[in-house]
Amino acid sequence: MRAGKRTWAAAAGLAALAALPAGAGPATAERVQTAQEAPVQRFQLAPGRTRSFLVRPPRPAGRLEVRALAVGCRGGGRLSVRPPRGARRVINVSVPRRWTRVLMPLPEGRHRLRLRFVAPRGGPRCKVVLRGRPRPLGRSVKLGAAARSDRISDPRYVRTLVRNFDSLTPENEMKMFLLQPRRGRFDFKPAEALVRLARRNRMAVRGHTLVYGSQLPEWVEYPRKPWTRKALLAVMRRHITKVVRHFRGRVSQWDVVNEAIDGDGRYIRNVWFRAIGPSYVEHAFRAARKADPDADLFLNDNSTETTESPKSRAVYRLVRRLEHRGVPIDGVGLQNHTDTEAYPRRRSLVASMNRFARLGLRVELTEMDVLTNPRLDRAGQLRKQALAFTAAEQACRAVAACGRITTWGFTDNTTWRRPKDRPLLFDRHYREKPSFQALARGVGLPSAARHSRRATRASAGR
Ligand code: XIL
Repeated sequence: MRAGKRTWAAAAGLAALAALPAGAGPATAERVQTAQEAPVQRFQLAPGRTRSFLVRPPRPAGRLEVRALAVGCRGGGRLSVRPPRGARRVINVSVPRRWTRVLMPLPEGRHRLRLRFVAPRGGPRCKVVLRGRPRPLGRSVKLGAAARSDRISDPRYVRTLVRNFDSLTPENEMKMFLLQPRRGRFDFKPAEALVRLARRNRMAVRGHTLVYGSQLPEWVEYPRKPWTRKALLAVMRRHITKVVRHFRGRVSQWDVVNEAIDGDGRYIRNVWFRAIGPSYVEHAFRAARKADPDADLFLNDNSTETTESPKSRAVYRLVRRLEHRGVPIDGVGLQNHTDTEAYPRRRSLVASMNRFARLGLRVELTEMDVLTNPRLDRAGQLRKQALAFTAAEQACRAVAACGRITTWGFTDNTTWRRPKDRPLLFDRHYREKPSFQALARGVGLPSAARHSRRATRASAGR
């Protein structure tokens, strides 16, 4: 068969692809052109012959899906697909008249693959027919991002969010000062706007946060007379019940308690602790479970990305105690706000996550951002930032209990940090940064179907 005449990948509309005889030099522009234009969906490979292909998987990572059918040989044969680096895949193409499928992850970039078909010795003359194309990788670790209701009138903001993330966390809209600004008066509007956006685009919602010592309404933080234990416990339970019931079935996971422990490993002396005592944590989880038995309940905190600090040990002991007492807790969120110098390395993240996982809990990175230093070389800072996200992604994939990485915002123009610290995955013009490419290369993309559906809904929703 002549080079470039028939290729399956050409029909799939790849950016660049050529079919070359084995041993031929790199694809010329002309060959690539020929291959792209050829409207043929399959090619045939005689036994013992090798063919090379150049493929370019979808950005930023993809997998090759080849389907093979042996024709004319009774016992079938074996097809091997060999990428330039990495393991060779061998598929038995043995069942007559049935397409066999092989899936092979491919990193970003151009790859030359070698395909070889081996038919059984002495059998009748036969061939293999192949079809295939690269597809986006399915995601193993989900990606989430914090989002702001006051930005969702910007189409670029929405498009970037819904195309690249599987879930969103309202950045402030579910905090008590906005949900219950006056006693007994709930305002769900800004939170609802985000929940609706998520649902329209089939994204999950992490609820953040039911009980937090900061961003409280004044009537809680500065009461006219000091709270009694009983009164504040009733306020807390009522808030949790009302909010969790309101979003029941639409918010799949709650940060029930946020930031309970300080740097020395003691309880933060917030209003809840001062009036109720340490048992406020336990009461909060019980109330949340009662209000929605199906939601996952998390304790969320920072500086637990290592195992050794006093704080991290204290959070661990708190969680273990809750577990032993039968408090309904499902997981621990590690915020992972960090920077290009001190970012937690893969090993320490894995160790910390595993420690919680051994208690039977799930873990997530829930608020990740990585400050760069605006005074240092920009390209170098962006590279380091990408390394920090890679460490997180590799750690999460290494721990079965870790299901998601959420970043605290996604574009550098809407971060809670200074914009010049550029802590996020997209720049202020919504262009992907190396950090996004690093993260997405490891976790894959949302599935192709959802990808395109979401793109449509984002614009249709406008
Ligand atoms: C931050 C928000 O991003 C800001 O917009 C707000 O002004 C202050 O709170 N840890 C948390 C988050 O758990 O709730 C905080 O969010 C960031 C630190």
